[in-house]
Amino acid sequence: MNKENQTLTMETLASLCKRRGFIFQTSEIYGGINGFWDYGPLGTELKRNIRGSWWHSVVQTRDDVVGLDSSIIMHSKTWEASGHIDGFSDPMVDCKSCKKRYRGDQLCEEQGKALQNEAGTYSLPEGIKCPACGSKDLTEPKAFNLMFKTFVGPVENDSTVAYLRPETAQGIFAQFQNVCSVARQKVPFGIAQIGKAFRNEINPRNYTFRSREFEQMELEFFIKPGSDEEWHNSWVEERLKWYESIGLPGSSLHKYVYPKDELAHYASACVDIMYDFPFGTQELEGIAARGDFDLSRHQECSGKSMAYFDQESNEKFIPHVIEPSAGVDRIALALLCNAYTEEWVAKGESSEIIPAEPGKKPPEGYEARTVMKFAPAIAPIKVAVFPLVKNKPQLLEKARGVFDKLKVCWPSFWDQTGAIGRRYRRQDEIGTPFAVTVDFDTLEDDTVTLRERDSMKQERVRIDELIGKLHGALI
Ligand code: GAP
Repeated sequence: MNKENQTLTMETLASLCKRRGFIFQTSEIYGGINGFWDYGPLGTELKRNIRGSWWHSVVQTRDDVVGLDSSIIMHSKTWEASGHIDGFSDPMVDCKSCKKRYRGDQLCEEQGKALQNEAGTYSLPEGIKCPACGSKDLTEPKAFNLMFKTFVGPVENDSTVAYLRPETAQGIFAQFQNVCSVARQKVPFGIAQIGKAFRNEINPRNYTFRSREFEQMELEFFIKPGSDEEWHNSWVEERLKWYESIGLPGSSLHKYVYPKDELAHYASACVDIMYDFPFGTQELEGIAARGDFDLSRHQECSGKSMAYFDQESNEKFIPHVIEPSAGVDRIALALLCNAYTEEWVAKGESSEIIPAEPGKKPPEGYEARTVMKFAPAIAPIKVAVFPLVKNKPQLLEKARGVFDKLKVCWPSFWDQTGAIGRRYRRQDEIGTPFAVTVDFDTLEDDTVTLRERDSMKQERVRIDELIGKLHGALI
């Protein structure tokens, strides 16, 4: 989080996101559903940019990763093999007084205690209270499976039960042999997938951070047994660099290295990439060295071989896997938090900018502005075009010509209404890095004013040089 944003609340961010069209509550007209969100026009572009950048970095620019788009509903045996049917649960606790429902581990943590777990049975430590009504009359934690259940076809019975996938990873493991046989890849190589995942979270919270429907970007990178540590380290560094490349400052990113006793029994290492959200430092992505657990389990449960034959060494083995697994929605939320900036700008020519002081009004001669300082490559709209006035057909036509040229290169925005200063502020608030104003001089000399969002500096640029100039600045 930026220094300036230390007082940012999720309420303030959610209000901007709704007002400007980043994120809406789902089915709001019916009162919404907790844990589900819709992305508006700008949120949609933001998420497209996140996915595009991830795909560019993880698939397109590498020779050793290919893509997959597997179905959301898979054979229910998939989830037996992966361990989700038996083990994908959270401890649920109910308040007997006010009927509020909690995740036991979170409830204890918030009260400075730890949920007790003896031989797989959870219990609450002494003194835990319901945060809503203060009652200590709580149920013992009960394992609640997070998978959404449905039925395939018209008959609803045990044999037609299916699940909405709780992660995209299993689609990759289940298609390992098919991809291997067509992709002309040799181990080490990876299969990447972006798609929706669903978890019936007991307590969705912190705006979009923990949702019930979300999107994952997952890579399963298959390696030779024994090279786990080297590849794990390399992917952790690779992924950290990517977060910085999309504009999250290194100082707000952290690694949480799992101690051995916190690792799943099959994993040899796991590192979470964490971001300093206003509500605490939380996970954006997990990078796990999962050994051959997943492929072996699918081999066991399907009866189909998951072995790989390495022609160079003449060896047959089940590859180990390194799994970087990130959430699009959490990254979008981190980018929104990081971009949010309140400033005071001197009125008049100087346009001096000073950081706003939280809760105070700007001093005499200054006005407040909210600006979303997205990295240009991630900003939803790249450039806005303004005709200085809207009632001069010749000016409008000229500005339209400029807009038509820009919109084929980047998502661009046309705005002809209101004072020019107000139009700049509107673009600042949605994070558009550049604005182009077409004025009466344009009709004479074919130049426009190009205004940069963060510095608010303006320069005259020839129309025929505009695209080249923006290309350089929008990388
Ligand atoms: N295949 C491994 C896996 O799914 P995970 O840590 O459960 O690992 C990976 O999930 C990422 O998916 C998380 O780091 C997070 O970014 C995202 N994610 C998980 N649960 C989420 C939720 N309820 N809401 C939003 N994003 C979530």
